[in-house]
Amino acid sequence: ATLHRAVDALKQGRKSVALVPTMGALHEGHLSLVRMAKRVADHVVVSIFVNPTQFGPNEDYAAYPRDEAKDAALLVEEGVALLWGPDVGVMYPDGHSTHIEVAELGADYCGAARPGHFDGVATVVAKLFNQVRPDIAIFGEKDWQQLAIIRRMARDLDFALDILGAPIARDKDGLALSSRNAYLSAAERKAATALPNALKAAAKAIAGGGDVAGALAKAEADIVKGGFDSVDYVALADADSLERLTEFRKPARLLAAARIGKTRLIDNLAVG
Ligand code: PAF
Repeated sequence: ATLHRAVDALKQGRKSVALVPTMGALHEGHLSLVRMAKRVADHVVVSIFVNPTQFGPNEDYAAYPRDEAKDAALLVEEGVALLWGPDVGVMYPDGHSTHIEVAELGADYCGAARPGHFDGVATVVAKLFNQVRPDIAIFGEKDWQQLAIIRRMARDLDFALDILGAPIARDKDGLALSSRNAYLSAAERKAATALPNALKAAAKAIAGGGDVAGALAKAEADIVKGGFDSVDYVALADADSLERLTEFRKPARLLAAARIGKTRLIDNLAVG
C-alpha cells in the first residue's frame, strides 16, 4: 500500500513512470539504464531485489554482491524518485505457490545451463510490474535471452506497459559490465576480454558471408585459448524468436556464456 501511494503520487498530473528492475550491486551498466529511463519518462523507480527463485541450488545466491547503502547513494545522485527494495518475505509471503513458467524461449542457452532460472525471472518481473505498475520498464540487452523472454511474457500475459532494451555498457577493453565481474581475479579479469573479442571476430566473419558453424567453433576455441575454463554455448540466434540459426539471416544475434574460475559470464552481439 505504501508503494502504491508513492507511485500514485508520482503519476499525478498524468506523469509517466519508468521502472528499472535490478538485483543491486549497481555499476555503470545499471546507471545507463537509469539514464535511459530518465530520458523516456517523467519519473524513475528502481527496484533492488536479489531474487532467490532465479538462482539454482549450487549458484551464488548467498554470495551475490550486496551493498544497499552504496546503491541508494548512487540512485540519489542520478535523481531516481523511488527505490523499491522489498525483502524476501514481502516478495514471497508464506504459502506463495504460483509462478510463471517460460516454455521454449527459456529452454536453450542460459535456460539449459540454469534450469528454472527464467521461470524465477519471469515470476519476479511480473510481480514487480504489478507492484510498481510502471508505464515503461527497462532491461539491459546484456541479458538478451532475458529481454526476449520478458517482451514475450508482457505480450502473452497482456501487461500494459512498454519494454525497452538498453545497449550493453562495456569497459574500455570491451568486457561487458556485470555485477559478477567483481568475482574475477586480476588475471581472470584480463583474460575475460577473450569473450567479447571472440564474439566480435565471429560477428564480422558471419556478416561477411563466412560459414556459421566454422565461425562459432572458432569463437569457442578462441575463448578457451584466451583463458576460460569452459564454454556453455556460442550460438547464432534469431534476435526475436531466439531460434538457433545455421545460416545468417537478419535480425541475428550472437549469444555466448563461458566459465572462468568460479565465474560464469555472458555476452552477446548483433550480427550485420
Ligand atoms: O537482470 C536482473 O538483474 C534480474 O534478472 C532481474 C530482471 C532484476 C530480475 O530479478
